[in-house]
Amino acid sequence: MITEQEQDAHYDPIAEQTMIADLREANEKLIAAAIRAQELADEAAAAMQRAEESESELRAVAEFREMFIGILGHDLRNPLMSIRMAAALLLRRGQLDEQNAETAARIIRGGQRMSRMITQLLDLTRARLGGGLPIEPKPTDLREVCRNVVEEFEATIQLEVDGDVTGTWDEDRLAEVLSNLAGNAIEYATPGTVVRVKARADGGEVVVEVSNQGDPIPPDVLPFIFEPFRRARQREKSARGNLGLGLYIAHQIVLSHGGTLDAHSADGTTAFVMRLPRPSPPA
Ligand SMILES: Nc1ncnc2c1ncn2[C@@H]1O[C@H](COP(=O)(O)OP(=O)(O)OP(=O)(O)O)[C@@H](O)[C@H]1O
Ligand SMILES: [Mg+2]
Repeated sequence: MITEQEQDAHYDPIAEQTMIADLREANEKLIAAAIRAQELADEAAAAMQRAEESESELRAVAEFREMFIGILGHDLRNPLMSIRMAAALLLRRGQLDEQNAETAARIIRGGQRMSRMITQLLDLTRARLGGGLPIEPKPTDLREVCRNVVEEFEATIQLEVDGDVTGTWDEDRLAEVLSNLAGNAIEYATPGTVVRVKARADGGEVVVEVSNQGDPIPPDVLPFIFEPFRRARQREKSARGNLGLGLYIAHQIVLSHGGTLDAHSADGTTAFVMRLPRPSPPA
């Protein structure tokens, strides 16, 4: 791991363009890796079924998982961290003109998106090959979680909380669910319309609904929308740099809590409804 001081001493501002090209290339590689990861995950899942008969195949699946998690967690994260730190240093020095400062900011934003993709791929690998996502439940107030997530977005989100929405859940993981759902609602909403997050108590459960106005998810896609890499519209695959894992991971987290996540899309409104029992069963 490179320290900030080392970065400062060795960093050459002329390398900025090279860094952008590297980042772009790394991004393309990551997307190719994501597609390959899906193929490998499918192969591994099939292998896992066969492995019921063969112990050595089981071992091979475990080795693949360790290798894949190692590559994502370490080999891709470290160089990406160096790129982000170098760009942040450039900005912090305050010697860049407006145009170059915007370039450095783009590198940072690109790096953040790539970090998110790597985290998603790690979760995909854990969930597909490890049998669900582990959670660490503790007393949680969903009112706070909703408020924090809503505040993170620049877009306006209307938040309504009704009744006691406390329970025993994994706070960070639920923030991730809400962040994925609210992020989608903003991204796929018709511009100028309102995104809503409503949380309420419902007997032994807590219900959170995230809704927006916009192009609906077609009825033939809706039943499969929580599968990895699934898109409502074909064009979204190439137009946006997203992997298509947000809903899959959100769904896995809710399932780990013993809850349900359902999608509804009709009459110009798309809504995702999460129901969480309280307290959640032991992890
Ligand atoms: N609120 C929404 N309105 C309309 N379509 C939606 C909405 N939320 C999700 N979708 C559709 O479901 C697809 C899958 O969503 P998901 O969040 O899993 O992936 P993504 O947003 O494409 O990528 P990322 O992995 O960055 O989240 C989206 O590509 C989009 O087509
Ligand atoms: Mg998404």
